[in-house]
Amino acid sequence: MSVLIKNGRVVTAVDDYYADIFILDDTVTLIGKDLLMDADRIIDASDKLVIPGGIDPHTHLQLPFGGTQTSDTFETGTRAAAFGGTTCIIDFAVQTRGTSTLAALAAWHEKAAGRTAIDYGFHMIVTDMPAARMPEMRALADEGITSYKLFMAYPGVMLSDDGTIYRAMRQAGEDGTLVCVHAENGIVIDELVKSAIAEGNTTPKYHALTRPTRLEAEGVHRALAIAEVAKAPAYIVHLSCYEALYELRQAQARGVMAHAETCPQYLLLDARAYDEPGFDGAKYVLTPPLREQWHQGELWSGLRAKHLDVISTDHCPFCMKEQKELGRDDFSAIPNGGPGVENRLALIYHHGVGGGHIDLNRFVELTSTTAAKIFGLFPNKGTIAVGSDADIVIFDPQHEETISVHNHRTHHMNVDYCAYEGFKVKGYTHTVLSRGKVVIDAGQYVGRAGDGNFVKRGQYGGAHAIRRHREQAPRVMPAGASGFTV
Ligand code: URP
Ligand code: ZN
Ligand code: ZN
Repeated sequence: MSVLIKNGRVVTAVDDYYADIFILDDTVTLIGKDLLMDADRIIDASDKLVIPGGIDPHTHLQLPFGGTQTSDTFETGTRAAAFGGTTCIIDFAVQTRGTSTLAALAAWHEKAAGRTAIDYGFHMIVTDMPAARMPEMRALADEGITSYKLFMAYPGVMLSDDGTIYRAMRQAGEDGTLVCVHAENGIVIDELVKSAIAEGNTTPKYHALTRPTRLEAEGVHRALAIAEVAKAPAYIVHLSCYEALYELRQAQARGVMAHAETCPQYLLLDARAYDEPGFDGAKYVLTPPLREQWHQGELWSGLRAKHLDVISTDHCPFCMKEQKELGRDDFSAIPNGGPGVENRLALIYHHGVGGGHIDLNRFVELTSTTAAKIFGLFPNKGTIAVGSDADIVIFDPQHEETISVHNHRTHHMNVDYCAYEGFKVKGYTHTVLSRGKVVIDAGQYVGRAGDGNFVKRGQYGGAHAIRRHREQAPRVMPAGASGFTV
């Protein structure tokens, strides 16, 4: 099967030019001006952007949580992702405490295999990692699982103590893999939650009031201090506020290999959403919670200045009916998470590029290329180049939509509300190729469940630099300083 994309404006993280792209089977094989080749399919991309398929490295499909599970399956969630211009997700498999991470991986393969519209990989959520099971980390890497998520939140369920985080980071630094951290002080948060409930403060907005920004910042500080001492990289997931960004910048300035993502909800929604009438604030019970609006400008500058590397979605959908409702009388029983895998590219193009916060190359970098580099997918994914996977989005910069649960062009996620209800955007995904196969054709889904493949990811992008860093002698202390340093 061959496809020729003609007359498009090709934009990658570093390029911006007009060219034709020839695809043979699943690979880009030729890029040039006015290519005169026969192809099984010719797509005219005049007046459109031709960009690398989006990579969303933070989704939760069929995730068991709080007595229920996320409402998107691997089939519905990846189809919705494709509609929105995402051609690869990295979802989170979850290890149950006391059991093997390899067994968890097998369970997640079972859920996803043969069902996805686009390619997918897995991170592993590690809930405990005693010394005897430490070799599993390398075994996971051999299976293409080269990143792990450890939680400083959710005591008794997901929380890992600092020793476990340190050991995992040491091992990851050794293996060329990467530890992602959910950085919030869950122990103190639990105290705040208990007090709020005891005082009768049970409505959704107390979810936000019991998770203050300082406790996220403290988590980021601690995670990055541990990474510094472990001489390992770390990736902070879903960073939501100025105080946490400050800690990230401080660590980066010390030379820590500290990466971080933020998400559209923290850039575009704010804590006033918790005042929506009735129980509607539950739509935004996600973790970390929405913050005051002023944080948004700080996050956009963090993205522009390259302190923040990636915009993921943390797509973690629960329906209002029967799922969020579980916490009608107690906010702490509302399953945490919100939808967004379908909305990311349009929202970030409109508000980021259209709003003057980032340029087109940075848009591609933030929604595709850097995630590919950090998570071991580059250069097969994350760019358009000869030899790369033909994961390509033809994006119409003039197409206007109103994002809504009621708009059949913008809502294919299996969830009964839209977090960005009524948002108007200019710029929308038109056609999507997943490894050379057209899966979205001028806004219509033409793919099949099972088109997507599991992707075995390679090492963390900075693995070589970390190894060199580990070989180096400790930094010399300035004269007159006391104590030890890393
Ligand atoms: O609210 C959220 N983000 N739920 C998903 C779990 C997590 O911490 O990412
Ligand atoms: Zn998290
Ligand atoms: Zn998440």
